[in-house]
Amino acid sequence: MKKIVIAIDGFSSCGKSTMAKALARSINYLYFDSGAMYRAVAFYCMQNGIIANGEIDTEKLRTAMSDIKITFAADEETKNSVTYLNGVNVESEIRTLEVSQHVSRVAALDFVRAALIEQQREMGKAKGIVMDGRDIGTTVFPDAELKIFVTASAEVRARRRYDELVARGSNPDYQEILANVIERDHLDQTREVSPLRKADDALLLDNSNMTIEGQLQWLCEQYKKIAEQ
Ligand code: CDP
Repeated sequence: MKKIVIAIDGFSSCGKSTMAKALARSINYLYFDSGAMYRAVAFYCMQNGIIANGEIDTEKLRTAMSDIKITFAADEETKNSVTYLNGVNVESEIRTLEVSQHVSRVAALDFVRAALIEQQREMGKAKGIVMDGRDIGTTVFPDAELKIFVTASAEVRARRRYDELVARGSNPDYQEILANVIERDHLDQTREVSPLRKADDALLLDNSNMTIEGQLQWLCEQYKKIAEQ
């Protein structure tokens, strides 16, 4: 089997990371969550007074970028990938609605993207990876051998995010989450630097009515078609 790069892009909360993790595990690839990296930068900004009253101090963030180190390691028990910001596990902290409300503005800054894209390319050098995000198949790995573009209706996605937050023990508001999903879709698609769009050679996957198992089977089939060539 040939070692390849698998790029999974798509709208917020459509289950990209669940599917990317499951795929990586079943074919023994490394999984990288590029969204977690943008979330970690947003979280850093919140912790260090770079975001205040919804405003980002871009000059302060530009200077701080060289002090922000994001790494991933597998959780010993669950084997899931965990995000570290400057050596501290921030996996839970970066998933809050507050971080979701700031992240797309942070991710629209060209110097933030340039720094993270460089790190992401480094992660994919040896191939054998699944990376999910918004611009993986278009900008980070335009030569990825397998590209998937995932979508589902905004309501289905908001419901999934709601269930995920409930499972994490919080008490979210569905309407607030739906508004956030719609707002992030808009920001992600209309930003100037690598906006969210389907690469011409990406396969479209609408998973509104697909089970997690059905989806994994479909992904494994696509992977085999290419890796066996
Ligand atoms: O999990 P969810 O789909 O809600 O989002 P995520 O993958 O954690 O990404 C959070 C945000 O980071 C997105 O809404 C984008 O604004 C941004 N992002 C990006 O700009 N480029 C990427 N490659 C990944 C995420």
